[in-house]
Amino acid sequence: MPPRTPTSDRSTATRRSAKGTTRDSGPTTIALANQKGGVAKTTSVASIGAALAELGRRVLLVDLDPQACLTFSLGVDPDTVESSIHDVLTGRAEIGDVIVTCEEGVDLVPSTIDLAGAEAMLLPRPGREYVLRSALEGLDTAYDVVLLDCSPSLGVLTLNALTAADALIIPMPCEMLSHRGVGQLLDTVADVQKILNRDLEVWGILPTLFDGRSNHAREVLADVGERYDLPVLEPPIPKTVRFAEAPAVGRSILATARTSKGAQAYRDVATSLLARL
Ligand SMILES: Nc1ncnc2c1ncn2[C@@H]1O[C@H](COP(=O)(O)OP(=O)(O)OP(=O)(O)O)[C@@H](O)[C@H]1O
Ligand SMILES: [Mg+2]
Repeated sequence: MPPRTPTSDRSTATRRSAKGTTRDSGPTTIALANQKGGVAKTTSVASIGAALAELGRRVLLVDLDPQACLTFSLGVDPDTVESSIHDVLTGRAEIGDVIVTCEEGVDLVPSTIDLAGAEAMLLPRPGREYVLRSALEGLDTAYDVVLLDCSPSLGVLTLNALTAADALIIPMPCEMLSHRGVGQLLDTVADVQKILNRDLEVWGILPTLFDGRSNHAREVLADVGERYDLPVLEPPIPKTVRFAEAPAVGRSILATARTSKGAQAYRDVATSLLARL
């Protein structure tokens, strides 16, 4: 795939009609979730999505966070999108009608701050955890993979993601305090597997913000898989300032710092996922 030019033009994302194409087989849907904030969920969704697109896969990203950081970081202005995941979850729009195509080579279901009200709106509804799943089943565009960017909570929106997903990846920085809450997340996953989505698989922990010079980070990395009895995806994603720069130009680090170690690490993770899609 040719290099893409970084841009600050947020109007370049175009509305896409999802009609007219047939779905060959269902996509693999992967939720990236951790109720702890700032663990690189959004960065990982954007970067793994961009890497899978580079590898020729058809990728849909879904922003399930009212903060709309994924939407913003892919060059779509959450304040001006006409319709969003909120409209889909509240039954006002079909998912195919809110998809926008991003320069990153991925499609996006954008979020807006309206989504903050969706939890309250969904709560009294029967089958509230299945709303996203049925919306995704209505997709009539063929995708190979759908990545769900969860908000830092274990509320109804995250339950919707875990119910819709085939797999869960848990981004986790290699720091002691980042462990807090992983047990609670895994308890929630066990409940989801029992009640809502038997097929949900935990693909593992994705170590993020990894500082290879720190003994502490290396110890946490060595211990984390055994502690939770989970696979640890490789390689760990290095901590680098290049990540902070990317969202400002509406592209992922794969476009803004193509050859950086961070971009390469996400490409390697994406390649390791390919066999499971
Ligand atoms: N490998 C990295 N090296 C340095 N900074 C990073 C790296 N990954 C992410 N960041 C930065 O860390 C911050 C948090 O990342 P991000 O928004 O992806 O986390 P998040 O888990 O989605 O947060 P939230 O829980 O608020 O949704 C951002 O400023 C991002 O640019
Ligand atoms: Mg986020």
